[in-house]
Amino acid sequence: MEKVLKVSNLNKRMGNRQIIDNLSFETYAGEVFGFLGPNGAGKTTTIKMIMGLLSIDEGEIEICGHNVTRRFETAMENVGGIVENPETYTYLTGMQNLRQYKRMRKGVTEERLREVVRLVGLENRINEKVKRYSLGMKQRLGLAQAIMHHPKLLVMDEPTNGLDPAGIREMRDIFKRLAHEEGVAVFVSSHLLSEMELMCDRVGIIANGRLLGVKPVNELIMQAQGNQRVMRYTVNDLPAALKVVGDNRLEPFNVNERSFDVAVESDEQLGRLGIALASAGIWVLEVTRQGQHLEDVFIEITGGGDQIA
Ligand SMILES: Nc1ncnc2c1ncn2[C@@H]1O[C@H](COP(=O)(O)OP(=O)(O)OP(=O)(O)O)[C@@H](O)[C@H]1O
Ligand SMILES: [Mg+2]
Repeated sequence: MEKVLKVSNLNKRMGNRQIIDNLSFETYAGEVFGFLGPNGAGKTTTIKMIMGLLSIDEGEIEICGHNVTRRFETAMENVGGIVENPETYTYLTGMQNLRQYKRMRKGVTEERLREVVRLVGLENRINEKVKRYSLGMKQRLGLAQAIMHHPKLLVMDEPTNGLDPAGIREMRDIFKRLAHEEGVAVFVSSHLLSEMELMCDRVGIIANGRLLGVKPVNELIMQAQGNQRVMRYTVNDLPAALKVVGDNRLEPFNVNERSFDVAVESDEQLGRLGIALASAGIWVLEVTRQGQHLEDVFIEITGGGDQIA
């Protein structure tokens, strides 16, 4: 696999605080790489350095083999992205905004502009002024701007912030398509593991400016869960159901009016509980597997350390 982004021993201080602490990782063509960390972890700071918007104290960043500091322009030809909120001229139309960016990028044709507008699903609104755009539409316009010059690396800082579920799904599909079909290295930051799970191939976890680990996303989730699964049951007769759970030597928690959670360790345990509930004449109206929380993953990876901000 072709290495597209290489970050080596990156350090950044602000005032007397170490914001980024010896960060190293690589991302490859054709993958969606998730940069996962809580608020204040250093995601945006790292992304600004990758995009050449913030100076580097120590260490190196290379994009397609070009050093971001020493070969700035060549490196930047290979990157597109949005940092925090996409910058736009709101008194211009979407298309006029894209044309502004087109002037700064080599080799982007009008035909390519129409293609990216289609790709992000803005064809019906592209000639309206951006001040009339919703947040989701602005994000799409930002994405169109970010990919118009066919960058090898696409860097997106919390791209699904403020989008509705349909918008999030579309964004996710676009990233996956760009990576898996067009071979782009897509670098996406987020503070939600659940989001990373659905779109990333590998995930790097950052907390307090330090990288805690990089893992394929399925490994990360398996590691976080161990063998345990938390299931939420909704039943017609809660007291009777709780008794059955207790009889099966399981401990219900998060007990509500009609639902409770229970942690099971194996398929067998889960199966036996289902049979026991049914045998007791209890209707199981719904069973859902509960999402794993980011904190659990952090705790697992840091071995219960105190590195979490
Ligand atoms: N200009 C600045 N001066 C001083 N400290 C800063 C500056 N910019 C960021 N920081 C600090 O650096 C740390 C990392 O900030 P950063 O914005 O990179 O975090 P983040 O992971 O992007 O968080 P979020 O999820 O909230 O976007 C924070 O503690 C922040 O307060
Ligand atoms: Mg941020």
